[in-house]
Amino acid sequence: MYVPARVVTNHDLEGRMETSDEWIRQRSGIAERHHVDGSETPVDLAERASRRALEAAGVGAEEIDGIVLATLSPEHEFPGTSFFLHHRLGVPEIPCFDLRAQCSGFLYSLACADGFIRSGQMRRVLVVGAEVHSTGLEFSTRGRDTAVLFGDGAGAAVLEANDGPDDRSGLLALRMHAQGEHARRLWIEAPSSGAYPSRITHEMIEEGRHFPRMEGRFVFKHAVTRMPEVLRETLDAAGVKLDDVDLFLFHQANLRINEYVAQSLGIPAEKCPSNIERFGNCSAASIPMLLDEAARSGRLTPGKLVAMTAFGSGFTWATAVVRW
Ligand code: ACO
Repeated sequence: MYVPARVVTNHDLEGRMETSDEWIRQRSGIAERHHVDGSETPVDLAERASRRALEAAGVGAEEIDGIVLATLSPEHEFPGTSFFLHHRLGVPEIPCFDLRAQCSGFLYSLACADGFIRSGQMRRVLVVGAEVHSTGLEFSTRGRDTAVLFGDGAGAAVLEANDGPDDRSGLLALRMHAQGEHARRLWIEAPSSGAYPSRITHEMIEEGRHFPRMEGRFVFKHAVTRMPEVLRETLDAAGVKLDDVDLFLFHQANLRINEYVAQSLGIPAEKCPSNIERFGNCSAASIPMLLDEAARSGRLTPGKLVAMTAFGSGFTWATAVVRW
């Protein structure tokens, strides 16, 4: 994982909008987040996280066969951030693409990588989640319901074909869902290729239609329903029980959502590590960031069973069950 150095606390935000440290902590569990300071862009974050993942895996950039990069905050409209990362890493002419499934993007990307590997097309895939939210948030009272929630960061993982007949490690099951009817409940409307005659106008900017808009309570209600559903479905598909799982890595959108999900399933809090207090919601980067912290803290020893679950805009939701 990688986050930019600049820390923005809740108190810092109090000076920019009508909000309070108490409101933000109570509603979301967030105390601070990291924001870029003008010296880094999404590809910088993605590159740092990717290099760390490659190093941790003991794999050279020239050994990967493809890159899948999940983001909702791309470097440019096109081409995708993955192409800029491709150049930075100096990889040969392997395929790469961006995947847009918002906060579930990392898990959707894992599914793609898994498919490429199982079909024999690729042996090693670099999967990245990278977001720079801070340049697209409205730091005023009008935008406070979303501006306080999001942070910048990146996380990456290397997936590799596992040919060992006695090695039980790997991705056991992955299930994904979407419900497009709620696409406008959490979205950024503009720029829009469907806006005529121009994708972005002064009027759109004045109305703040280029900032995220969210029906917070509606999203919350769906998240606490869908996350347990997909978690159970995926555990069943993997043939494992809830109690067998050593670590639950939940998307870091809101501590209250994750506490609610854990309580409703009877999962002990110590099995649910959290980093939202320090990083806020980093969308597609949240799960790989949490995964990295779990790995580096020594909690992911061989044989450990990990369940990663996300919910986000789209709506999208997904779980991956992995034997470390
Ligand atoms: N500071 C102070 N007050 C605020 C702030 C703020 N930053 N933001 C909103 N308020 C006010 C509102 O204006 C409202 O005031 P009113 O009662 O006078 O109208 C009041 O606080 C309560 O607002 P609610 O929206 O009802 O607060 P809620 O308890 O629902 O918490 C929150 C808001 C934290 C956003 C919550 O709804 C939530 O976490 N929703 C889900 C977020 C999520 O899971 N997103 C998915 C992933 S993100 C992705 O996919 C990109």
